[in-house]
Formats: sequence, structure tokens, C-alpha cells
Amino acid sequence: MKEVRVGILGLGTVGLGVARILIEQQALMAKRLGKTLKLVAAADRDLNRDFGLDLSGVTLYDDAAALVVADDVDLVVELIGGYEPARTFVASALEHGKHVVTANKALIAKHGEELFKQAADKGVSIGFEAAVGGGIPCLKALREGVAANNIQSVYGILNGTCNFILTKMENEGADYADVLKEAQELGYAEADPTFDVEGIDTAHKLSILAAMAFGSHIKFDEVFTEGISKIGAADIEAVHELGYRIKLLGIAKPHGENGEVTQVEMRVHPTLVPLTTQIAQVSDSYNAVMLSGDFVEHTVYIGRGAGERPTASAVVADIMDITRVLPNGVEFLAPPMGYVASERQALETLPMADVQSEYYLRIMVKDKPGVIASVTSILADHQISLEAMQQKEHDTGEVVPVMILTHETTEGNLQAAMSRITALAAVEDEVLILRKESFAA
Ligand code: HSE
Repeated sequence: MKEVRVGILGLGTVGLGVARILIEQQALMAKRLGKTLKLVAAADRDLNRDFGLDLSGVTLYDDAAALVVADDVDLVVELIGGYEPARTFVASALEHGKHVVTANKALIAKHGEELFKQAADKGVSIGFEAAVGGGIPCLKALREGVAANNIQSVYGILNGTCNFILTKMENEGADYADVLKEAQELGYAEADPTFDVEGIDTAHKLSILAAMAFGSHIKFDEVFTEGISKIGAADIEAVHELGYRIKLLGIAKPHGENGEVTQVEMRVHPTLVPLTTQIAQVSDSYNAVMLSGDFVEHTVYIGRGAGERPTASAVVADIMDITRVLPNGVEFLAPPMGYVASERQALETLPMADVQSEYYLRIMVKDKPGVIASVTSILADHQISLEAMQQKEHDTGEVVPVMILTHETTEGNLQAAMSRITALAAVEDEVLILRKESFAA
């Protein structure tokens, strides 16, 4: 097979980026592959617009269902996004013996298990590098590069939009809504930006990483998920003074005994990371994935996590991997989730109450005698030890923020203490609870 014919579903930001690479880098890819990749078809609901690309010779469809069954297409690239109709089109493409490459993390997180099975039954491949970490080849690193290791932890800044927002709020004092709008204009944000800011997009990506790291099934619905929408400029400044930066992190860790993984911890939330760590330096739309393994130790992968060109770069890398082994060698590709299918297990998710963490608490209290004593005595009752505490000067009698950093405790214990603290008459408003992580790198 000297020529592989590619069809793209969705000529949005990433779809046009993929079309651009396939056209502009064709000669380079032919040198790397010894085969030609040819863009033969594309589908989009709106064909009456200027794509800014010469698509002559490309058959244009306004109906994706027709493209996925076209005889002259060997490989379908799904860049529509979202659960449906993307799932239906991908399933149809696989059913018709087409290989599929997608950047759709929502699709893989929710329907990956059934799609992998369908692809295996049909003897075709499904690539999804661009679904996690944008342009960073982090899935390839996890699936192949560190495959000789028991993975000990996965940390990721996995959403370019949130990282862009947090960076601009900290560096420029920018307003949350303005920065979100800018991220949308730059093509970083999801069609529904609440997926970004409420952590859902990060949870999609983390569930894929965790399953690949620990040989478990993808369990997106079980990821504990909190977003960044409650974080204010004052919190960013306050934690900075304490030596930390807030990042929206996805965190996955294995639990078990004697080297056997029985439970997987998966959580997404705004996290305090020490300013001195590599992950704290990752700014703007950049993503970072930190994988630790028992032999390799700490590895960190950093790159653009969103946007047309970086995401398209990862999509085309998958297309090239599949092209390399065609016509009949998909068994020479690493299994999509990094373990042979029969060895993957439906591991339990660690209940959030059992998760161990350190915490940052921002408690709004009336400034009157004995309030701090009441708060700290409740923490002491729950064996929660304090690492630092801060209250700024102010006029007496006002409501003031008290910031507390704790040592490690369980989430269940912390929540039990917090429900007693919020019930105190001197405590006003909701307490802001942020989790804190210490890193070796
Ligand atoms: N909305 C996503 C982000 C796009 O901001 O990271 C890349 O998956």
C-alpha cells in the first residue's frame, strides 16, 4: 500500500490544521514513511465558507455519514468533537473497515472501551494521541516509552484554556471572563467552555491516562472533578505569598499491596503546587504531563495543549503510525491502551474520602476573640496538623480571610472538620478548600 487515503470529519480549528499538514507537509511525510498520505475527502456542515486552503481535488461532503462509508477513504479522522454524533460516525467508519484517528477526548473517555473492541474485531486501528495533552506525545510516551515501568503517579496540567486563564489572572490581573473569551477566540476552548473551566475536559483526559497507566478500564464517570470557576485573583495572590501557584491538575495514583494494583485514585481540582517545581512554570496554553515509574523515576513532558497546529501535529502523528504498518500490520502497533486487551481490568476507583492530601483553607471569619481558637481546636480534634496560617492586618470587627495550610490528612477527615467549622457562628460564607501537592520534580 503505497498511498493511504484520508478523509476528515469536521473542518473546524483542528480539522483545518490537519488538512494543512496533509497538504503542506506531504513531501516530508513521504520521506519519513516511504508512502504517500493523501487528503481525499472532508466533511463539514458548512461548505460555503473560505477555508483559507486549496482544497481542490478533495471531495467535500456536507454529510459525514456519507464520507465514513466512501470506498476511496482508508482512514477517517474524526474532528467533530463531543459524544454524538461523533460516536455514531466513528462506529460506522470502523464497521466499514476504516482506520480511525480522533482528537476527541470526550468520545474516548465515554465510549473508548466499546470502540476499541469494535476496532479489534474489525482488524483496524484507532489512534487518539491528540485527545490528551494537545501536541505533546504523552500517550506514546506512556504506552511505549515508559512501558517497562510500574507507573507510580500521573500528574497533568491537561487543559490549555484553564492554564491560560490562571496564567493571565496571575500575571496581568486579567478578568476571568475576558481571558476565557480570548481562549475561545484562539481556538483553545471546547464548544461548551464549561467543560474546560469546570474540569470536565481534564477529567476526560485523566481517565484515559489513568487507564493507560494502570491497565484499568476507562472510568470517566468516577473521576472526582472540581474546576477553577471559584478561584479569585485574591486566592492566586494569597497562595503566591505562601510560595505556591494554583494549577488545575489531573492526578492519578495506584493503590494496592505487594505491587498489585487494586484501586485507582483519580481526581481533578485546582491544586497548590510549589513555585519551585517544573509544573509551576508551565504557563499559558501549555500542558504538562509528569509520569513517574519505578525504574525511570520522574519524567516530564511539556508542550502546547490546545490550538490548531499543535493538536493537528498529534493527529497526523497517529495517521503516520497507522500508515507505516498498512496494509495488514495493525498488530504491530502497540495496543491502544498500552496493555493487551485481555489483561486490562475494571479496577475500583479509590473513594474520595480515602484520598490523602494536604490542604489550603480560606475561611472568612468575624474578627473577634476566640475565633481562631475555635477553628484550630476543631482541626486538632480531627488530628489535622497545621503547616502555616495567615491573617492580614485590618480594621477590627470586619470579616477577614484566614488562610491555613495543613499537613496531610484524608479527605473524609478534612470534610468532617470543615462541616463543623462552617457551622461556627463566626464563620461567614463558604470555605474555599484547595488541595496541595508536593512534587519530587
Ligand atoms: N479545550 C481543550 C483545552 C482543547 O483547552 O485544553 C484541547 O483538548
